[in-house]
Amino acid sequence: MVLIQWNSELEIGNPAIDAQHKKWVGMLNALNEAMIEGKGREILGRLLSELIDYTAVHFSTEEHLMQVRLYPDRDQHARQHAELKATVGKLQRDFAEDRLMITIEVMRFLKDWLYQHIKNTDKRFGEFLASKPAS
Ligand SMILES: [Fe+2]
Ligand SMILES: [Fe+2]
Repeated sequence: MVLIQWNSELEIGNPAIDAQHKKWVGMLNALNEAMIEGKGREILGRLLSELIDYTAVHFSTEEHLMQVRLYPDRDQHARQHAELKATVGKLQRDFAEDRLMITIEVMRFLKDWLYQHIKNTDKRFGEFLASKPAS
């Protein structure tokens, strides 16, 4: 089952960021699939770490671009990133220490966060980029 179907609502109009978001959605779907298929801890743990590593890469791409383009809302945007990073960091620790399973609820949380963040926060940044082409 596909957790998130990529669709135009998720496009923010910046090709580099859109490509990263697409990859990110793919990784989340892969983790979801592995969970549904009842894959073992090793595989789930690996997919979870890959997702978290890619999240960090993606967030720094956006934050760097926000800095370069002097995006006025960059602090608030970066704060949302930091909050998610802290949450998934805890999730990963709990998983490693056997205090957490990857469940439908965990997947739903990640999906909702990602969807809302892209659709609202990232999209506002995309609109800003479009309104102020790089000189
Ligand atoms: Fe993003
Ligand atoms: Fe973002």
